[in-house]
Amino acid sequence: MTNETTQNASASSNTDVKIIGDLEFPKRKVWIKTYGCQMNYHDTERMLSHLNELNFSHTETKEDADLLIYNTCAIRDLANQKFYSHLGNAKHDKKEREVKVAAAGCIAQTESKELLKKYPQLDFAFGTDVIDNVGDLVYRAYAGDKKFSVTSWDRSDNYSIETKITHGSPQAFVNIIKGCDKFCSYCIVPFTRGREKSRSITEIVNDVARMCEHQGIQEVTLLGQNVNSFGKKNGESLAELIMELEKIDKLKLIRYTTSHPYDISDELIAVHGKSKKLANHLHLPVQSGSNSVLQRMLRQYSIEHYLERLARLREANPDIVISTDIIAGFPNETEEEHRDTLKLLDAAQYDFIYSYNYSSRPGTKAARMKDILTKDIRGRRLREIQQYQLDIQEKIRQEMEGKTYRVLVEGKSTMKGVTKWKGRTSCYRIVHIESDENLQWNWVDVKVTSSTALSSQGEIVQVLGRNF
Ligand code: SAH
Ligand code: SF4
Ligand code: F3S
Repeated sequence: MTNETTQNASASSNTDVKIIGDLEFPKRKVWIKTYGCQMNYHDTERMLSHLNELNFSHTETKEDADLLIYNTCAIRDLANQKFYSHLGNAKHDKKEREVKVAAAGCIAQTESKELLKKYPQLDFAFGTDVIDNVGDLVYRAYAGDKKFSVTSWDRSDNYSIETKITHGSPQAFVNIIKGCDKFCSYCIVPFTRGREKSRSITEIVNDVARMCEHQGIQEVTLLGQNVNSFGKKNGESLAELIMELEKIDKLKLIRYTTSHPYDISDELIAVHGKSKKLANHLHLPVQSGSNSVLQRMLRQYSIEHYLERLARLREANPDIVISTDIIAGFPNETEEEHRDTLKLLDAAQYDFIYSYNYSSRPGTKAARMKDILTKDIRGRRLREIQQYQLDIQEKIRQEMEGKTYRVLVEGKSTMKGVTKWKGRTSCYRIVHIESDENLQWNWVDVKVTSSTALSSQGEIVQVLGRNF
């Protein structure tokens, strides 16, 4: 799941000058551009929180900032190209005023030395495993250290953190596992995020209970590149964690992402049936509908296994809604293999999909495969997949009409000149609601009046309020 924006967050009030070590830190502003997945978004939140200690407040206006941080994503070449172009523009900021520029995240993890050489405007770079040391790194930069990079891995067995939130909403991302050991043949993540390491259930439950009690958190999204591997190395499991979190009184909704189909256990499926707080949604990336392509991707499951897991999940929770990720045009994918993906869309009946053209990533196994597919073939297959899914989705979403859903209102959105409230159902569908009341962060029961493939309109049945 990828998208891009600057972080929407606000820091607490700062004092005029803070003395830290040998340096004076006057009030300064930091601007962070975040690319990529939820883990990166959460890393940005963590950085903002740490930088608050150095007297930085957050700004969404780049021109006002004393420090620019690009929190990068390397998942597809397009993500890299966007960042290079944005970093290129930072040379104007550097010319016009006193500003420090840093690169963080997944590209910085693997390319920091090259970046520092190629872009004179870049002051320092740091990788994904030192995000929590951002304060020390920024201190170093203000102490006069130039052109340095830190990309070391934390080699300890222990992964212990406290969740940092800066946004004031009732929703929180909570890291439960970092890294990925799967090494799918096309994917750069194991190289940018390192080996799998889980927090303990006790730590996470205390962390979430604290946020629910003191920071008004009501919904958590448990994060990791492969959350189903959670706890494997310490004899714990995601299923156990969810059942423990369920006991926290003030917590209302639990989501988790992203899952690998190989690790969806019977125990976890049972939790989808019995949990009262787990969302009616599961994002379960399949990548391809062809067994031969899945083998070349080193995904470790067959389509038969995948569909069996879906059937069991739907048996356990008939209201569950499934979404997925698909890669179009894996190296040497045949027309028949591509058609198998269209067949899978019929069989799986996804609520939505994220689909991408295959992008060769340096250092991965797939990048070494000889590949005869052209850009045109890939583009055509991607369009076919997307159109095929839209037709399926339109039908599925129309079935929502007349039904009532509980929604947490997240904000407003304007479409065709009309501004409405916008919220998500437990099954992750967006519903637009017309109302003059201030519904921000209210829980509302909404009856869906109309639905297209991408969004739904609803009318209020009852407003439950911020706490109910
Ligand atoms: N950990 C998750 C997803 C991580 S990346 C999982 O295992 O499913 C998010 C999505 O990006 C992937 O699901 C995949 O569909 C896509 N992706 C990853 N590498 C890619 C590549 N080289 N080219 C195109 N898409 C890619
Ligand atoms: Fe990448 Fe595969 Fe790991 Fe997902 S499970 S992050 S696709 S290597
Ligand atoms: Fe991108 Fe890194 Fe996430 S490569 S998708 S930001 S883990």
